[in-house]
Amino acid sequence: MLQRSVLPILKKSLYTTQVVQDKVSHPLVDNYQRHHDYLRISITERCNLRCTYCMPEGGVPLSAADSLLTTTEILRLAQLFVAQGVKKIRLTGGEPTVRPDILALVEGLGRLKGKGLESLAMTSNGIALKRKLPQLVASGLDTLNVSLDTLDPHLFEIMTRRRGFQRVTEAIDEAIQLNMKHVKINTVVMRGVNDAEVLNFAAYTKDRRVNVRFIEYMPFDGNQWNRQKLVPFKELIGRIEAVYGRLDRLTDTANDTTKHYKVPGYQGKLGFITSMTDHFCGTCNRLRITADGSIKVCLFGNTEVSLRDLIRNESTDEEIVQVISMAVKKKKKQHAGMFELASQKNRPMILIGG
Ligand code: 5AD
Ligand code: SF4
Repeated sequence: MLQRSVLPILKKSLYTTQVVQDKVSHPLVDNYQRHHDYLRISITERCNLRCTYCMPEGGVPLSAADSLLTTTEILRLAQLFVAQGVKKIRLTGGEPTVRPDILALVEGLGRLKGKGLESLAMTSNGIALKRKLPQLVASGLDTLNVSLDTLDPHLFEIMTRRRGFQRVTEAIDEAIQLNMKHVKINTVVMRGVNDAEVLNFAAYTKDRRVNVRFIEYMPFDGNQWNRQKLVPFKELIGRIEAVYGRLDRLTDTANDTTKHYKVPGYQGKLGFITSMTDHFCGTCNRLRITADGSIKVCLFGNTEVSLRDLIRNESTDEEIVQVISMAVKKKKKQHAGMFELASQKNRPMILIGG
């Protein structure tokens, strides 16, 4: 539903269209009645790490600089989506902090709070984050997900093909200090690489208000995925419980992609993102915009429509919303299944942003 406070930024005609569409079909509701109120915006294809599961070995060809969305274009799209009911925006990459205008961008997005936006989040590898965090938080960033796959500095260097472990853990501690609403760690688990680390991460939650989420390894272009490297979440829980005893099962929120647990008495939480063995397509509320301005309605889908081209062809807000709506209506009920995913054409993860 539109809120009164967003009306001034909308053209009157758009509001009229919205009222009509609410009765027929809301632009952000798909054919399976999923209401998309969470937008993930990738703001760069660049990254200062080279994680093996994300980047193909030979790197990725980057889009020309002028084909990426500008700050103004990102803010225009964000505003449009918020006016249509998006409540949460997450910035992803590549690595969002390598974008030179990151502070200005977050400041602009922060202003959408009070116009319907409830949460502003970022997924970062933490390498160049600590110094920027106070200003980002002051601008409205409330949720931080840091990608960290190991607590062993040596293994960190192997998995990311770069140094910087300490800078990452310092950024996490800074986020906790700044009292951010949510501080999460994303840990992609790969058998034979970092699966033994889950026990160290469980210990890490003892005195830290963090939510460590173990993510099942997913196949993307060029990331050498194979079934043996996937550790199903049930196996991981079993391994943790064998050492820590029975975990407390916590209540998950609606649209949550994580199953939450806790070692009894510990400050932090443990979570499992079961993208492969127990997909959550049925409650998916996410839409994605790639750094080059395409809307992607499914992480695993290869249908994309360029919103950038619409903006650059001087389309009206109304026209852009119509195209967004058409893309949303094409969203499939669920992804093809884990084996099909491995052979399907998609972008590498670095170009989607998770
Ligand atoms: N499988 C699962 N998660 C992945 N990520 C990147 N590549 C993969 C993959 N192949 C996650 C990282 C990062 C987020 C953006 O996506 O953990 O935190
Ligand atoms: Fe960079 Fe994140 Fe990909 Fe690692 S997972 S290479 S940190 S974008």
